[in-house]
Amino acid sequence: MQQRLLQHLSLFHFLVLAVDPSVPETGRRGAAVPPSHRFDCGAERLLAREGCEARGCCYAPAASGAGGGPPRCFFPPAATAATGPRAACASRCLRDPARQRYEVPLATPRVSARAASTLYGVQVREDPFGLVVSRWPGGQVLLNTTVAPLFFADQFLQISTSLPSRFISGLGEHLAPLVLDTAWTKVTLWNRDMAPVPQVNLYGSHPFYLVIEDGGSAHGVFLLNSNAMDVVLQPSPALTWRTTGGILDFYVFLGPDPKSVVRQYLDVVGFPFMPPYWGLGFHLCRWGYSSTTTTRQAVANMSAARFPLDVQWNDLDYMDAKRDFTFNKETFKDYPDMVRDFHQRGLRYVMIVDPGISSSGPPGTYKPYDDGLKRGVFIRNATGQPLIGKVWPGPTAFPDFTNPETHEWWHDMVKDFHDRVPFDGMWIDMNEPSNFVEGSQDGCPNNSLEKPPYVPGVFGGRLQAGTICASSQQYLSSHYNLHSLYGLTEAIASHDALVRIRGKRPFVISRSTFAGHGRYAGHWTGDVESNWEQLSYSVPEVLLFNLFGVPLVGADICGFLGDTSEELCVRWTQLGAFYPFMRNHNDHGNRPQEPYAFSPAAQDAMRKALRLRYSLLPYLYTLFHRAHAAGETVARPLFLEFPKDPNTWTVDRQLLWGGGLLVTPVLEAGQTKVSGYFPAGTWYSLVGVGAATGLPGAATPFLRPIPPGKGQWILLPAPLDTINVHVRAGHILPLQEPAFSTAESRKKGMALVVALTPDGFARGELFWDDGESWQSFEKGDYTETLFLAAHVSVGGGCLGTALQPPAVTILGVTSPPRQVLANGARVDDFSYRSDTQVLSVPVSLPMWEQFVITWS
Ligand SMILES: *[C@@H]1O[C@H](CO)[C@@H](O)[C@H](O)[C@H]1NC(C)=O
Ligand SMILES: *[C@@H]1O[C@H](CO)[C@@H](O)[C@H](O)[C@H]1NC(C)=O
Ligand SMILES: *[C@@H]1O[C@H](CO)[C@@H](O)[C@H](O)[C@H]1NC(C)=O
Ligand SMILES: *[C@@H]1O[C@H](CO)[C@@H](O)[C@H](O)[C@H]1NC(C)=O
Repeated sequence: MQQRLLQHLSLFHFLVLAVDPSVPETGRRGAAVPPSHRFDCGAERLLAREGCEARGCCYAPAASGAGGGPPRCFFPPAATAATGPRAACASRCLRDPARQRYEVPLATPRVSARAASTLYGVQVREDPFGLVVSRWPGGQVLLNTTVAPLFFADQFLQISTSLPSRFISGLGEHLAPLVLDTAWTKVTLWNRDMAPVPQVNLYGSHPFYLVIEDGGSAHGVFLLNSNAMDVVLQPSPALTWRTTGGILDFYVFLGPDPKSVVRQYLDVVGFPFMPPYWGLGFHLCRWGYSSTTTTRQAVANMSAARFPLDVQWNDLDYMDAKRDFTFNKETFKDYPDMVRDFHQRGLRYVMIVDPGISSSGPPGTYKPYDDGLKRGVFIRNATGQPLIGKVWPGPTAFPDFTNPETHEWWHDMVKDFHDRVPFDGMWIDMNEPSNFVEGSQDGCPNNSLEKPPYVPGVFGGRLQAGTICASSQQYLSSHYNLHSLYGLTEAIASHDALVRIRGKRPFVISRSTFAGHGRYAGHWTGDVESNWEQLSYSVPEVLLFNLFGVPLVGADICGFLGDTSEELCVRWTQLGAFYPFMRNHNDHGNRPQEPYAFSPAAQDAMRKALRLRYSLLPYLYTLFHRAHAAGETVARPLFLEFPKDPNTWTVDRQLLWGGGLLVTPVLEAGQTKVSGYFPAGTWYSLVGVGAATGLPGAATPFLRPIPPGKGQWILLPAPLDTINVHVRAGHILPLQEPAFSTAESRKKGMALVVALTPDGFARGELFWDDGESWQSFEKGDYTETLFLAAHVSVGGGCLGTALQPPAVTILGVTSPPRQVLANGARVDDFSYRSDTQVLSVPVSLPMWEQFVITWS
C-alpha cells in the first residue's frame, strides 16, 4: 500500500483532550437569536411553550408554515447555556465504560489526535461540551459545535456545527442538486426501496459532506454512523446531525482543495475497486426479456442494427418462480447455452440476484433455504427464528451478511449456480433490504428499537416501512444498527464470491449502498422514471457517487418506469455515453427502448454517442485506474478542477471525465442549443467525432477552440444528433478505434488527441492491462504510458499495441508546420487546417518503445 497522509481526526478521540481554558464565555442569556441561527431543542417531540421552557429552552411561535423553517423551541445562545437544557449532557456521557455501544463494523484507520499538526487547531470546551476546529494558517473555522448543546442519549444523539459557507455537497442518497439548499433542508439517511423523488431517503447512506469555503479551499466531514439519521441544514449557515444510535465518530478532512478532501475521505473508507474493461462497455437489460429466445433476439437485433454491446442482462424473467439461483426450465431451457453463445460472440452476461430467499417450499425442494437454515445464516426475529417477509418469490428469509458463515453459504450458492450458468457479474437488487410487508409476516414487536423516541424523517414514517423489523437480530448487532449496511455487506459477499469462483476481477452492481461501497461494487440509481427531470437529476447523482468513492455509477438510460419518448431516449443515450456505468434498462410493459427500437435518425444519433464512448474507453479505463490506485474521481464536478472559480461550484448540468474532458448534455425537451460553463482556459470541441469513421481527425473537424480568458457561459449548438464534448487544453487523451464490443475494440489501433495549451504543452497517460485479471495493478501486470507534448513534439512508449492512423491529432497548432517527423523519419501525408488549427499525423508506430513526433 502506498503511504498516505491522513489529515483527519476523530471526535471520539478528542474527548480525552484537556479543556482549553482560552475559549471565551460571552453572550447574554435570553438575547434574541435570529431565526436562521436557531437550533432545535425539541426535535424528538412537538413541544408547547411550557414543555420547551421547562427544558431551559426558548420558545417562539412558528413564523413559517408546516415543514422546514426555523424551530419553535430552540436553544438559548450557546455561551450562556452552561446551566442549560436538561436534555443535553456533557462529555462524560459520551463514553460509559459499563456500556458497550454499537460501532459501525467498518475497518477504518483510527488516528491519534495527539499528533501535532501545523495544519489545524482544535479548541475543546467542556461544559457545555463543544469543539472548534480551525484551518491553519488563516484561522478559518471549519467546525464549531459550541453553537448548540450536544445530546447524547441512548437513542438520540445530536450535534450541531456552524458551516463556513453555504456551498455544501454530499449527504446521499437523494434526488437533489449537487449543492444542497441550506434554507432548512432536512436530509434523512435510512436505506429504502423507493423510486427516486426529491426530499426522500433513497437506497443508500453516505454521511459525508464537502464544503467549499470562500476563496475555494474545501474541507469534508464524515460521520461514521449507520443509524437512521437526519441532517438538518439551516441558513446561518449551520448543520445538525441527529442520529438514533451508535457513537459520534467524526473524521474531518482538511483538503485544502476539494480533490484532496475526496482523496482523504477515500483514505478512510477505501479506494474504488478496478472494474473489468468490459464493464465500461454498453449494457442492455429489460424486465420482460421473458425467454432465452427474446434475450437472444435483443442481442441479434443490436448486432443487426450495428450497435456496440458488451453485456447482455436479464431481470427476474430467467428465474423459476422468481427464486434466486434457479432458472425456468421451459422459457430458459437453454439458458447455460445462451450464456455460452454470448461468450462466443465476445459478450458478457449479468443477471439479477435478490437477497430474499424463498422460504415457502416444502423442505428438501430448495437448497438455498434448506442449506441456509442448517447453517443459521438468516436474520432472526424476536423468538430467534428466521424473520419471514415477502418479496418477489413470496415469503422470504433474509440472509445476514454480517455473519461470516453467510459469506461462505452465499459463495456456495453462487458457485453452484455458476457451475450451471457461467455468468460474468452480479446485479444485486432489493437489498435495502426491501420487503413488501411491513416488518415481517408476523409484524414487529412493540419495543424501543421499533419505536425509538425520535424517528428521523424516513419515508413511511416508521423504521420498518418497506423493510424488516428494526429489532430483528443479526450476527453483529440489531438490524436497527445494521440496516443501512445491508447492501454493502451483500456487495462484499458477492464481490468475494465472484473473485473466488471466477478468479478474475469481479463485477457487481448494487442498488443499496453505504460509505465504502466503492471498494467492492458499483451502483445504478434505481427505479428512475422516463422523464426529463430525472434525466437532469442523474448528472448530480453520478457526480455525488464519485465524491462518495463509487465511480462506477449510472442511471437507467431512457428511464426505467413509464414509457420513454424518442427524443428523451436519444438525449439520455448521449448523456449515458458519459455515465461511468452505461446501461439501458426498461420496466416490463413499457414501450421498447433498445437503441434499435427507434427511427433511423434517432438510431444514428445513438450510434454516434456509443461510438464516441467506445473511442474514449482507454481514457475512461485510465481514469478508473487513477481512482483505484490514487483515490481520484472518474466523473467529476467542475468545482473539483476549478475550485477558485465560484461560478463552477453549483454547476450540475455538466460533468467532467477526469481533468480533460467536459461534457455538456442537453437535458430539456425541444432544445437544439445548450448553455454550458467553460472555466478559464482553452477548450477544443470534439463535435463530429464518432461519425461514420469514428475517430477524431478522420471525422468532422474539430471546431475552433473556445478561447482562454475568464470563465464564461457559452451557448452551444446541440442538434439532436450531437452531444457537446470539449477537450481541455493541456491534456492528451488516448483513444481506440471503436468496435461492436470491447473484446474487438481492444485489438484495434490506438490514437492520441493532443490538446495544446497556448504555450504548446500537454500531457496524458494510459493505463493498460489485459482488462480482467484480478489485481493486475497490485501484481505489476500492467503498462503505464506517459504522453508529453512540449512545443513541437509528442512522445510516449512502452505498450504492447500500436498507434494506427489517424494516430495523432494535435489541436492548437497555431502555424502550419513545414515538416513532421515520426521517430526522425519524415511523415509526408500529414495534414493541417489553419481554420481549425488541427494537425493530423496519420502514422503507424509501435507503442512498445518510446516514440517521438515532432513538427516544425
Ligand atoms: C463558536 O460559536 C459560538 C456560538 O455561536 C461563538 O460564540 C464563538 O465565537 C464561535 N467560535 C469561533 C472560534 O468562531
Ligand atoms: C427484434 O427485432 C424483431 C424484428 O424487428 C422484433 O420483432 C423483435 O420484437 C425484436 N426483439 C426484441 C427483444 O427487441
Ligand atoms: C418468528 O418467525 C417465525 C417464522 O420463522 C414465526 O413463526 C414466529 O411467529 C415469529 N416470531 C415473532 C415473535 O414474530
Ligand atoms: C407499546 O408499548 C408501549 C410502552 O410499553 C405502550 O405504552 C403501548 O401501549 C404499546 N402499544 C401496543 C400497541 O401494544
